[in-house]
Amino acid sequence: MTDLAAFHTLLRGNSPRILAIVGAGLSASSGLPTFRGAGGLWRNYESTSLATPGAFARDPALVWLFYTWRRHMCLQVDPNGGHAALAALAKARGGGFLCLTQNVDSECLPTAELSPPPDLHERAGHPTDTLRHLHGRLFDVKCSRCKKTEYNTDDPLVPALAAASVDVADGENPLLDPSRPVPQITASELPHCSSCGGIQRPGVVWFGENLDSRMLREVDAWIDAKPVDIVLVIGTSSVVYPAAGYAERARTRHTKVVTVNLDPETEAAEPGDLVYVGDAAQLLPALLAPLTTSSSL
Ligand code: OAD
Repeated sequence: MTDLAAFHTLLRGNSPRILAIVGAGLSASSGLPTFRGAGGLWRNYESTSLATPGAFARDPALVWLFYTWRRHMCLQVDPNGGHAALAALAKARGGGFLCLTQNVDSECLPTAELSPPPDLHERAGHPTDTLRHLHGRLFDVKCSRCKKTEYNTDDPLVPALAAASVDVADGENPLLDPSRPVPQITASELPHCSSCGGIQRPGVVWFGENLDSRMLREVDAWIDAKPVDIVLVIGTSSVVYPAAGYAERARTRHTKVVTVNLDPETEAAEPGDLVYVGDAAQLLPALLAPLTTSSSL
């Protein structure tokens, strides 16, 4: 692994423009499971197999139970030192930093009066103008018919989903035991749109769906406005596009790519990158300290 000094040397002498690509590994030490590898199974299902329009069409109750469980977990945990370090970087660098998160647990704050707001990035104090939620947000609920989207932190959203909202601190949730049957929930018991009565779905981006095109244009405009000096690839397996493409594009432009990942064999890293192996919650505060504290380099 590269030592911290190699990264701190990169920061000297100018005000680097920094792009961060964040994945589930950032929230892992807060207690939220990642999508792949250890923790990527929910009952007998690969988490990724439930994040599709097809899965929802086949069994909306099952998909809602999965997302209710993730919503419940998100409401139970706290942001960690990695979220805090990125938030401090955003405050220190303003428009010189952009954070693209794939994590749906990192909520924007249309309802800043909620206390505490149910996000991790923003609960750590991350200013919203330097944060883009590539895959949407766990607490948005979207009508599958008229597409009206509502922000809703009810846990559970409807009584029929209560089995997924058992408090983590109470021990193992029986719902996670694949040998037990899934509660039978009828379509009429699932959340419904307040406008048209259509069945609601999680307002996140699923596999096979398009990301918000206006957001992607904004990201491209930021990248193209001035050279990006450093791309941080944090806690992501870098297998999902377009997120993975930002680091690939940076490498072709000779931008320094710095990966932070628990897995020493991670495919997110390429030859030529600076690679830091370990917990992002621990590494990010140390890596970013020169930019986020008053001490000079
Ligand atoms: P993955 O679950 O694919 O990858 C998580 C990465 O984090 C892995 O490379 C782990 O080695 C690493 N990791 C785990 N714990 C860590 C820690 N404490 N510190 C640093 N790294 C750690 O998650 P993503 O790459 O975020 O999309 O997945 C991308 C997208 O695929 C998700 O947004 C989701 C998923 O399916 C949708 O749902 C559309």
